[in-house]
Amino acid sequence: MASFHGLLEALLWSSVAGLAALLAVGAALPPPPGSNCSTACGGINVSYPFGFEPGCSWPGFELSCRDTKQGKKLFLPQVPGADGYFEVASISLLEGQARVWSNISRYCYNHTSKGMTDDNYWNFVYQLPDTYRLSETANMLTVIGCSVVAYISVGNGDFVRQMSGCFATCSEQGNNNRMNLSRLANGTCDGVGCCQSTISKAQTFYNVYFDGQTYNTTGIYNISPCSYAVLMESSSFTFHTSYATSSEFFDTQGGRAPLVIDWAIRNTSNCAEAMKHSESYACISSNATCVDSSNGPGYTCNCTQGFQGNPYLRGGCQDIDECREPTQHSCYGNCINLPGTFECSCPPGTRGNASVEGACQKNLLTPGVQVTIGVVACVLAGLFGFLGCEVIRHKQRIRKQVLLRQTDEFFQQHGGQLLLEMMKVEGNVGFTLYERGQIEIATNNFHKSHIVGEGGQGTVYMAELNNTIVALKRCKEIDESRKMDFMQELVILCRVNHPHVVKLLGCCLQFEAPILVYEFVQNRTLQELLNIQRNRRFHVTLGTRLRIAAESAGALAHLHSLPHPILHGDVKPANILLAEGLVAKVSDFGCSTIDEKTQAVPKGTPGYIDPDYLLEYQLTAKNDVYSFGVILLELLTGKKSLTKGMKSLTLMFQEAMANGTLIELLDSDIVDEASMRVIHQAAVLASQCLVVPGTGRPPMMLVAEELRRLALADEVQRYPQPPLVLEHLSFMDTGSTTSIWYNDSKTSGVYSHENKAVVSTEFAR
Ligand SMILES: *[C@@H]1O[C@H](CO)[C@@H](O)[C@H](O)[C@H]1NC(C)=O
Ligand SMILES: *[C@@H]1O[C@H](CO)[C@@H](O)[C@H](O)[C@H]1NC(C)=O
Ligand SMILES: *[C@@H]1O[C@H](CO)[C@@H](O)[C@H](O)[C@H]1NC(C)=O
Ligand SMILES: *[C@@H]1O[C@H](CO)[C@@H](O)[C@H](O)[C@H]1NC(C)=O
Ligand SMILES: *[C@@H]1O[C@H](CO)[C@@H](O)[C@H](O)[C@H]1NC(C)=O
Ligand SMILES: *[C@@H]1O[C@H](CO)[C@@H](O)[C@H](O)[C@H]1NC(C)=O
Ligand SMILES: *[C@@H]1O[C@H](CO)[C@@H](O)[C@H](O)[C@H]1NC(C)=O
Ligand SMILES: *[C@@H]1O[C@H](CO)[C@@H](O)[C@H](O)[C@H]1NC(C)=O
Ligand SMILES: *[C@@H]1O[C@H](CO)[C@@H](O)[C@H](O)[C@H]1NC(C)=O
Ligand SMILES: *[C@@H]1O[C@H](CO)[C@@H](O)[C@H](O)[C@H]1NC(C)=O
Ligand SMILES: *[C@@H]1O[C@H](CO)[C@@H](O)[C@H](O)[C@H]1NC(C)=O
Ligand SMILES: *[C@@H]1O[C@H](CO)[C@@H](O)[C@H](O)[C@H]1NC(C)=O
Repeated sequence: MASFHGLLEALLWSSVAGLAALLAVGAALPPPPGSNCSTACGGINVSYPFGFEPGCSWPGFELSCRDTKQGKKLFLPQVPGADGYFEVASISLLEGQARVWSNISRYCYNHTSKGMTDDNYWNFVYQLPDTYRLSETANMLTVIGCSVVAYISVGNGDFVRQMSGCFATCSEQGNNNRMNLSRLANGTCDGVGCCQSTISKAQTFYNVYFDGQTYNTTGIYNISPCSYAVLMESSSFTFHTSYATSSEFFDTQGGRAPLVIDWAIRNTSNCAEAMKHSESYACISSNATCVDSSNGPGYTCNCTQGFQGNPYLRGGCQDIDECREPTQHSCYGNCINLPGTFECSCPPGTRGNASVEGACQKNLLTPGVQVTIGVVACVLAGLFGFLGCEVIRHKQRIRKQVLLRQTDEFFQQHGGQLLLEMMKVEGNVGFTLYERGQIEIATNNFHKSHIVGEGGQGTVYMAELNNTIVALKRCKEIDESRKMDFMQELVILCRVNHPHVVKLLGCCLQFEAPILVYEFVQNRTLQELLNIQRNRRFHVTLGTRLRIAAESAGALAHLHSLPHPILHGDVKPANILLAEGLVAKVSDFGCSTIDEKTQAVPKGTPGYIDPDYLLEYQLTAKNDVYSFGVILLELLTGKKSLTKGMKSLTLMFQEAMANGTLIELLDSDIVDEASMRVIHQAAVLASQCLVVPGTGRPPMMLVAEELRRLALADEVQRYPQPPLVLEHLSFMDTGSTTSIWYNDSKTSGVYSHENKAVVSTEFAR
């Protein structure tokens, strides 16, 4: 509750700050800084727009210079409600960046309690003032340890926008209990003793936390007493083998590491907007330019080419006298400085390229000879011009042929021939092989406006093909060695005719990566339904919840029971689509089967990923059972699988089951005396799905049967489901919940390049 209160407070303050920023737009320029403004604090240069004395800074660029035991130090202002504030390490005026110190989180063995102690489990949030954004290009979550899973969640406002994480071990491959420190290598951070993960753009806060459940490291305290995690500048980090086994990493810089942040003038969206309001435009120097911020709204200023200085001050950009150091600007002849540029020519009587050392040569040609050469050159130029045109025309013809051939090659590469033959053998199965041209026209060449979703395994487009609306999924590229399996699975998948599995209609193999064509289901998902329910906009009855669960379980069970079983690998509410009448349809398989066996960057979603899978890297049907168990929990409790500042739902559930306090965790909307028996049985089923290790879990088939039975129980059937009308969904378009994946997170996992655990997702709120 305390953290919620803190959040509210922060929200309140940020809106006050937002109002202040709004008022600043259009207001007059702040008066120029006085000549008595200090330009350094504790050895760090501070220049306008930054300043730490009254009247010395642009609004939003106030810093504070304070006396500490270690002398004067420079700090960013503290954001109201945030837990700490940042010390500044350096400011780069022209790059629009600054470095601050970020605290390293520790997860250490405690000899007194004989358990693990976390410095700041979950709750410590690092928050930047609005002028700054975390640089997504320069920083990475860096995790060090011998048996550690660490996550980072980043966001802005009060929304967590992305979670990612990675894990590192020092254990023998395939044997988690045997440490082998000789696998550690200096300079490589790929999951052995060290791992890294990227963050997404335009975020202002983050927190770093350890997953104490997946690994219990009390047993290895004598090898690796502490694990560390910190968001830091990646270029200033080099892994040393001793980091994994000692406190060297933490100690070298006093428990902190540099973090790169991007700053900009943010009271307007970009340069074009800023220039419209000349009275509040910050690039006031002549010969200054405006540069759009690449991270968040706003702009920064720079001097134009050939000028240097401070573009934020009148007359700040000064001409660079290139002729003072001519060789630095590669001038090896006579140099004349001009405003913004310079002229460099060979000394009289010589000719050549003065910008190349020793290239000025004695002039040998008389003017007459020069004219003759000129005429000959013109004739030759005309001739070559004509030939050039012919060559270009010829090339265009060839290119067209190459494209045709390539289209054919992709088809062959993706095993199109094989598929055709299989289809011949198996008989026509209502599966269509689409032409490249058809797809290109239908999606307007994969135009952005056709995108309806971005999943772990590819991008989804909506298009009209042959008079029906379909969903097209553009898979990521597939592995050579898996082509055969992929085709077999396509043939199997397209014959899956299950009411709760999104139907595969066909595919197109004439692109670099295969395109799968599915029936189109309204883009409503179980995730959205759960969100509406959480906001109490709509009552989803216990019966409906159990029915959706039973239908999804049935679909998964069907996929698992095929002669060539198909595993889903990323079961989560966002992948359960809801058609008319809240009928569940499982989606987002197909491409996933491609990833599964090659083990190429297997993706899961934190909160749903099976801890067994993180350890074994072998996708099995039991992984789907686990993820499904989490969904069942969400349906019963109405809570998110992961919430900022709280334990994971599975952990809370397991504790509550053990304590006999389950009822407190349940969604009060569905709890009533009469249905308790059914609810309790469903909870027991969920706990069976979540058993670790996975061998103890029931098969999907049993789960589905049990749920079907529960959904039909009399106690549950008494309440009819009120219909879902569009208004219930409409508030979601206001942007309070979005479900875009940041699948550009790059993570170095453990073992090898094929075996990377990428846990990356976004969840709203
Ligand atoms: C700078 O000088 C002006 C007047 O000369 C004074 O009002 C102002 O307070 C001074 N600022 C600082 C930071 O000393
Ligand atoms: C600070 O500025 C001075 C001169 O203005 C320069 O000599 C010095 O290198 C700068 N220090 C840093 C850390 O940039
Ligand atoms: C880092 O830790 C120090 C000392 O514990 C604290 O004063 C400071 O606020 C922390 N930094 C941030 C950015 O929270
Ligand atoms: C500003 O100009 C300098 C030198 O031309 C360049 O190095 C720097 O990247 C520019 N900054 C931005 C934000 O474009
Ligand atoms: C170790 O555990 C004891 C007992 O739980 C606790 O009092 C102490 O603060 C812990 N030490 C550290 C360094 O966290
Ligand atoms: C430890 O790992 C190294 C390098 O992977 C390997 O050569 C060595 O055999 C392993 N040691 C043991 C005891 O397994
Ligand atoms: C890594 O470098 C340190 C010295 O920087 C050295 O002592 C250590 O043996 C090196 N480890 C490996 C595995 O090369
Ligand atoms: C970790 O394992 C030790 C014994 O190896 C046990 O005493 C302790 O309770 C475990 N801690 C957790 C959080 O499971
Ligand atoms: C620099 O600014 C001056 C004054 O506004 C202007 O006359 C000159 O053309 C500018 N030079 C360049 C290279 O833009
Ligand atoms: C288009 O639909 C018609 C019937 O609706 C069907 O006969 C035909 O095969 C389809 N063509 C393609 C390319 O899917
Ligand atoms: C469904 O997709 C359309 C784009 O086709 C989008 O405009 C709309 O916001 C989406 N609806 C929901 C509820 O996500
Ligand atoms: C369960 O009991 C333990 C110990 O009594 C307590 O710490 C924990 O908060 C309880 N959990 C729940 C969910 O009530």
